[in-house]
Amino acid sequence: MNLHAARHIAAEAFKKALRPGDIAVDSTMGRGRDTLQLCQLVGETGHVHAFDVQEAALAETRALLLQEGMLPRASLHLMGHEKMAQVVPPGIRLAAFNLGWLPGGDKRITTRVETSLEAIDAALRLLSPQGLAVICLYPGHPEGERELAAVCAFAHALPPQRYTALRHDFINAGPGAPVALIIQKQ
Ligand SMILES: C[S@@+](CC[C@H](N)C(=O)[O-])C[C@H]1O[C@@H](n2cnc3c(N)ncnc32)[C@H](O)[C@@H]1O
Repeated sequence: MNLHAARHIAAEAFKKALRPGDIAVDSTMGRGRDTLQLCQLVGETGHVHAFDVQEAALAETRALLLQEGMLPRASLHLMGHEKMAQVVPPGIRLAAFNLGWLPGGDKRITTRVETSLEAIDAALRLLSPQGLAVICLYPGHPEGERELAAVCAFAHALPPQRYTALRHDFINAGPGAPVALIIQKQ
C-alpha cells in the first residue's frame, strides 16, 4: 500500500468503499485519474458523475476513459461541483474532492473556498448512509491554505451523531504538506 501522498490515501478509501453497482462522484476531474479509478471500482452496473470547469479537463478525461473502455460508466459535466445536486440523484456511495489546480495547467484556475464548501455540503446531502466524502487539500498555496482552514472548520462542526470526520496529516513533511480528510455519513 502506497501512502506517499494524500491522493494515495484517497485511492485506498475508494477501494475500501466502492462496490460494483455503486454511484460515485468525482468533484474535480482534472486529468481524469480519479475518475478512471472510480469507474473501474463501480463496475459495469455502477456510474460516476465527474465535474470540472475546464474544457481541457473534460477532453483529457474523456480521452482517458475512452482508451480504457470506461466512457459508458461516466457522465462528464462541464459545470462547477457546487451545482452537483442539479444532476446527481441522492444515494451516492462516495464523493471525491482533489482540490487545487489542474496539474501542469493554469494555476489561476483553482478551486475556491466558497464553492468548495458548497460542493462538500451538497455531496454530504447526496451520500447514502455509510457513504464517504474523500477530500484532498493542498495548503502549500494561499487559496489552498484558506481551503484547508475552512474545510476543517466545516468538518469540525459536523454533528458527530450524523458524521465521522477523520483527518490524515503528514506530520513529518513540513509546512504546506497535503491533508486527506475523510467524512463518513452515519
Ligand atoms: C487537483 S485538480 C484534480 C485532479 C484530478 N482529480 C486528477 O485525477 O487528475 C483540481 C481540478 O479542479 C477543477 N476545478 C476548479 N474549480 C472547480 C469547480 N468549481 N468545480 C469543479 N471543478 C473545479 C480544476 O479545473 C482542476 O482541474
